[in-house]
Amino acid sequence: MAQEDLFKKIIAHSKEYGFVFQSSEIYDGLSAVYDYGQYGTELKNNIKKYWWDSMVKLHENIVGIDSAIFMHPTVWKASGHVGAFSDPLIDNKDSKKRYRADVLIEDYMAKIEAKIQKEVDKAAKKFGDSFDEEQFKSTNIRVLANREKLSEIKKRFVTALEKDDLAEVKKQIEDLGIACPISGSKNWTDVRQFDLMFETQLGSVSEDASNIYLRPETAQGIFVNYLNVQKTGRMKIPFGIAQIGKAFRNEIVARQFIFRMREFEQMEMQFFVRPGEEMKWFEAWKETRMKWHKALGFDEKKFRFHDHDKLAHYANAATDIEFEFPFGFKELEGIHSRTDYDLSQHQEYSGKKIQYFDPELNKNYVPYVVETSVGLDRTFLMILSNSYTEEKIEQENGKVDERVVLKIPASLAPVKLAVLPLVRKDGLPEKAKEILNTVKYDFNCIYEEKDSIGKRYRRQDAIGTPFCITIDHETIESNTVTIRDRDTMQQERIAVEKIHEILTNKTSFKDVFSKIN
Ligand code: GAP
Repeated sequence: MAQEDLFKKIIAHSKEYGFVFQSSEIYDGLSAVYDYGQYGTELKNNIKKYWWDSMVKLHENIVGIDSAIFMHPTVWKASGHVGAFSDPLIDNKDSKKRYRADVLIEDYMAKIEAKIQKEVDKAAKKFGDSFDEEQFKSTNIRVLANREKLSEIKKRFVTALEKDDLAEVKKQIEDLGIACPISGSKNWTDVRQFDLMFETQLGSVSEDASNIYLRPETAQGIFVNYLNVQKTGRMKIPFGIAQIGKAFRNEIVARQFIFRMREFEQMEMQFFVRPGEEMKWFEAWKETRMKWHKALGFDEKKFRFHDHDKLAHYANAATDIEFEFPFGFKELEGIHSRTDYDLSQHQEYSGKKIQYFDPELNKNYVPYVVETSVGLDRTFLMILSNSYTEEKIEQENGKVDERVVLKIPASLAPVKLAVLPLVRKDGLPEKAKEILNTVKYDFNCIYEEKDSIGKRYRRQDAIGTPFCITIDHETIESNTVTIRDRDTMQQERIAVEKIHEILTNKTSFKDVFSKIN
């Protein structure tokens, strides 16, 4: 299936089956804002639990907090966001569409990368097992020419951004002949910086009202609570503070479903370390976080690191974990070595000493910080993209049936078990409810008695329920049920007493955690 079609199908499926809805849809929606439906919310909660427990439960030296969205306005001056948290925007005069100038250039570079990959794939097919990818990339003339082109574009682009030379960014777009994807026109406005922070007013009467911001990252709530947590938790360096919460950015372009939203959720962890040890921890967290993604069991080739070309004002090293979404490799998570920038800035602006006394070194210092920051919504989209599967099933009568199944890892699946009486009579519904009562306190379950059993299976496949049990006449006689596995569609007859144990073993995070710990 073409990747573009896959993406459209995922969006349609998300709506049809109660995962994601456009916000305020009955009023024609609000751009780049989404609501999560009944199954989407369960999936999101399970992702949060996976992340939270992997941080807070698996690490004795990481604790979690929940700071407010509203913060003192000076926080954002100290952090460097006021006046500097912006993206370069450009408009196409013919289509009237707005773009991020840097994204236009990045997309252009992605096309060259795709050309390189095509050459590599072609050669790999031709040479089979004897193919040496590295050697091919460093000797093939077309690949070398494209790599050279890429490095020149990147150098020019990064230099322009570092110098904040927006005229040069526009010139590069023109020189590369980049056209508006909608109109095909190259008629561009100048590039301008666009402020991403939402501002609002705090206070009931206009005289006491002060301008405050909706936080564009959750991290600052952790920095300003560093002292509180370190002291009350008697934390010793190295230690981390984790948080999950909403963040807001007035994104210029938001056309990729829940990939780029104006209101979204982040799962961030700030790890406080000794100055000079930050690169060691940066490498360690890169590895741990990559394992976290891969432990879910999806195709490992879809994840890669991408080091930042241009570092943020607070960082001395930064990398992204990218995932191959249906629209290409894009950032899923950022891992940043933020130095002592944020804590030092808050120390200066607040006038409060923000330091750590290190008994082993017998000295005070402002800790350095390594941050891991993953978008909850992007993780959700990564899981949906990996899970959405269309299958053709050959029936015994020779007919071919089709099903859409979400192969969501069982530990993350919104519903763990569907309890289905075969018919609505003969005491089967009563027996089914009796069984449901033995598992519903520990697992999210669904009870369904309407429609044929085949239709009910398909509905559960479509929301990713890993197990269905069917209560039939034999259940009444022998206290057994058939249990159906979502992925293999195999059915097995088991004793009713076994259901709880099977669900416990197959849906817990234990296996996944064992791969990252
Ligand atoms: N505290 C560091 C920070 O905020 P970032 O790279 O700007 O770094 C971290 O954001 C993560 O937050 C990204 O990797 C992405 O997963 C998520 N994210 C950022 N902007 C987003 C948006 N507009 N919509 C959805 N997720 C977003």
